[in-house]
Amino acid sequence: MDKTRLEPYLFVIMGGTGDLMRRKLLPALYRLAIQNQLPDNHQLLAVARSADMDDNGFRSWAHDALTAAGLATEEQISSWCEECLHYQTLGAGTPADYRALANRIVTLEHAHRLPQNRIFYLALPPTAFMPTVEGLGEAGLNHSQGWTRLVVEKPFGRDYNSARELNHFIHRFLDERQVYRIDHYLGKETVQNLLVFRFANPIFESLWNRDRVESVKIMVAEDLGIEGRANYYEQAGAVRDVLQNHLTQLLTLVTMEIPAAFEADAIHTEKMKVLRQLTPVHIENDVVLGQYTEGQINGKEVSGYRQEPGVTSDSQTETFVALRLYIANWRWQGVPFYLSTGKRLHRQLTKISVTFRSAPVSIFMPFESCEIHSNVLEITLQPDEGFDLCFEVKSLGEPITLQTHSLHFRYAEAFGPLPDAYETLLLDIMRGDKTLFIRADVTEASWRIYAPLLEQKPPLYFYPAGSWGPLEAGRINFQNI
Ligand SMILES: NC(=O)c1ccc[n+]([C@@H]2O[C@H](COP(=O)([O-])OP(=O)(O)OC[C@H]3O[C@@H](n4cnc5c(N)ncnc54)[C@H](OP(=O)(O)O)[C@@H]3O)[C@@H](O)[C@H]2O)c1
Repeated sequence: MDKTRLEPYLFVIMGGTGDLMRRKLLPALYRLAIQNQLPDNHQLLAVARSADMDDNGFRSWAHDALTAAGLATEEQISSWCEECLHYQTLGAGTPADYRALANRIVTLEHAHRLPQNRIFYLALPPTAFMPTVEGLGEAGLNHSQGWTRLVVEKPFGRDYNSARELNHFIHRFLDERQVYRIDHYLGKETVQNLLVFRFANPIFESLWNRDRVESVKIMVAEDLGIEGRANYYEQAGAVRDVLQNHLTQLLTLVTMEIPAAFEADAIHTEKMKVLRQLTPVHIENDVVLGQYTEGQINGKEVSGYRQEPGVTSDSQTETFVALRLYIANWRWQGVPFYLSTGKRLHRQLTKISVTFRSAPVSIFMPFESCEIHSNVLEITLQPDEGFDLCFEVKSLGEPITLQTHSLHFRYAEAFGPLPDAYETLLLDIMRGDKTLFIRADVTEASWRIYAPLLEQKPPLYFYPAGSWGPLEAGRINFQNI
């Protein structure tokens, strides 16, 4: 990466002492710094309400977090923390508190000769998004002599109306081109590779349509439960947590038309077209919701969702969703897209499977064991990132029998370890590249698709932890997941 393209900046993390900062943002920024990918002149200001923290307290908090993450040497960590990290309390978030923040920012920029290039990252509970944008705006921090960018974490709203309201609110203070809505899935190399895979390999593009494709499955399976985040998950559920954002983004990348250029707006515009062409979700026939009960994962007993700390014993929150969608356009009319996600499933797996139409007749049928399986292209996004193209071969000897084998490619074999998604996204924000972020209209359109599902929740089916979800999902052809 050419670091000469990055301008000096001040990175302000609103909610700079939270879990996201500790586990993701701080390690990612630190790794980029020691890999020499950040400009020499960069500073980080963590902001939170607590007045018990100061610069030194925050540096030691960050030091502990980075050491716990097992990153690099003590000496490197200490010098980065000393040179680059600062803390500012926001107290109760009054206008005076935001003015104090603005003064602190100007002082830091003077001291470090920074050119008023500012990133404000909202690593905050969603309820704090609007008050924070307002506080920053009223204090004049929404614009500067350099550039000002606002990064908003997920969840972006909890339904169509709230996402729209949040967009309107943000646009009162900032232009859309200043806003970076994060979906960390899009920072994964394998997800970005979907576009290269499709648009740099004409052999696949010519097969990528209703004439050749029978169905497409996109699955985000997690073996983890809710990891102590009942407060958040009880309000969210699988539809809001994964379907509306990660799964829907993957769907658009798999199905969109070729953009006019590899540029943010051209790509977002193609995504929008797909979202507008999705047919309404048929709740009764095309959706199955589930919730995990106790079971076993990797030989370990795990409790059911309703027994998780902080979850009520009659919770109706779905931890699994499977649905079938159709896209009414020339390319995809009639092809079913099966989207599914769940917690406490058999194992962690994010995979896109494109099943091609089978041979119209089989000349091998007179022989036994000669059922022809469809060709399937499996794109694995995690773990063991790569892809497999499955096809039929003749096994050795007589009589003729067919077996399915695959051509495969593995990222780790070709390139070694992959960078963390947050590293990619943070560099893009610094560079001003919005390709991997979500445009306002795309966020709203993604919520709109699932509005009926959020309003009239279908029945909840139960599945044991460690399975692949409720049996009822088989009713809409999910038996293979
Ligand atoms: N944790 C993850 O792995 C993860 C993954 C994806 C997305 N996210 C999203 O990232 C955001 C942050 O999550 P988190 O897990 O880091 O939350 P968290 O651990 O609760 O941390 C929240 C941070 O915000 C500060 N804060 C809380 N209320 C505030 C307010 N009203 N005004 C200003 N600062 C406030 C907290 O410090 P004070 O209490 O001192 O103010 C703390 O620094 C959420 O939107 C979450 O959905 C998190």
